[in-house]
Amino acid sequence: MLRIERHLTTDDLDKTLRRDVHDGLSAHPKSLPPKWFYDERGSALFEEITRLPEYYPTRTERAILLRYASGIGRATAADTLVELGSGSGEKTRLLLDALRTAGTLRRFVPVDVSGDFLEEAAGLVAAEYPGLDVRAEVADFERHLHLLPAGGRRLVAILGSTIGNQPPRRRVAFLSDLRSTLTEEDALLLGVDLVKDPGRLVAAYDDACGVTAEFNRNVLHVINRELDADFAPEAFEHVAVWDERAEWIEMRLRAKAPQRVRVRALDLTAGFAEGEEMRTEISAKFRRPTVEAELGRAGFSLAHWWTDPAGDFALLVARPRVPGPG
Ligand code: SAH
Ligand code: TRP
Repeated sequence: MLRIERHLTTDDLDKTLRRDVHDGLSAHPKSLPPKWFYDERGSALFEEITRLPEYYPTRTERAILLRYASGIGRATAADTLVELGSGSGEKTRLLLDALRTAGTLRRFVPVDVSGDFLEEAAGLVAAEYPGLDVRAEVADFERHLHLLPAGGRRLVAILGSTIGNQPPRRRVAFLSDLRSTLTEEDALLLGVDLVKDPGRLVAAYDDACGVTAEFNRNVLHVINRELDADFAPEAFEHVAVWDERAEWIEMRLRAKAPQRVRVRALDLTAGFAEGEEMRTEISAKFRRPTVEAELGRAGFSLAHWWTDPAGDFALLVARPRVPGPG
């Protein structure tokens, strides 16, 4: 059974995109928020990234899930799997299988901003799992957490190290918000990429075939289409750098030559100097003590921590702590 809820209307998307692009292009240095990578083409490009030889996180997380999914199923006994930023839901099937084997699974709630992609992915899951109540929510998990279905025993999954795409303070605030929508019966499943050799990290975000570069530039295609802008995406170069101090990979777009960009829907002109860089994404890499501390500040306590043998990626289960954040 499949139902689709659209909390993000075209109007709403348009309003937030306008604000984000206006603020981002007026700031010094310029920046653009990452959720705008993901239109239909962006989601397809991300799927391609997950299959690149350099991009180890997806296959490593899948291997950890394969090994521990039944443990997660037993430990959480969830009847509802809520997945924030569900994407294609490929790894999710391992969790659905485990919860089905545990005999508890009733409902699956994939949540994503990429509406059409979500609809397709959720349709496939509904067809493969007859009897499962699939309720897809087109929503922004930074704003719509309070609209997600309550009741039952929920497992909220955020895979793919998506949590690392927010800076530390924002992700603690986000996790606190999430905590406040949960009861003690619920659990959080988080996939986090770990600090490792910078060479491997940079390669994962700057692949030889240029798929990540195309993904990064996709945000410019989105702005051109949605806000009637005239970015020349090919005039921007993809940059991925490891920030040693912050321990995150930073993705930027660098203007190859001086240029002026007109964003007609905002009546805004932005000038770029040659070599000027605009930040489009961060991807934080974690260490266990920091993760535990952040979860603690958000009102969770760590219950399980699993990694692959090489220690590249971690999957963890956290439980809401009583009496909550603080
Ligand atoms: N979970 C999948 C996809 C990770 S990519 C995996 O592990 O492979 C991040 C996903 O989060 C994308 O599908 C993107 O569309 C979605 N996303 C990004 N920001 C979002 C937001 N603010 N609200 C909801 N979904 C978001
Ligand atoms: N959550 C993914 C990550 O941080 C998202 C991602 C992968 C990404 N590759 C990217 C975001 C390239 C921007 C650019 O690994």
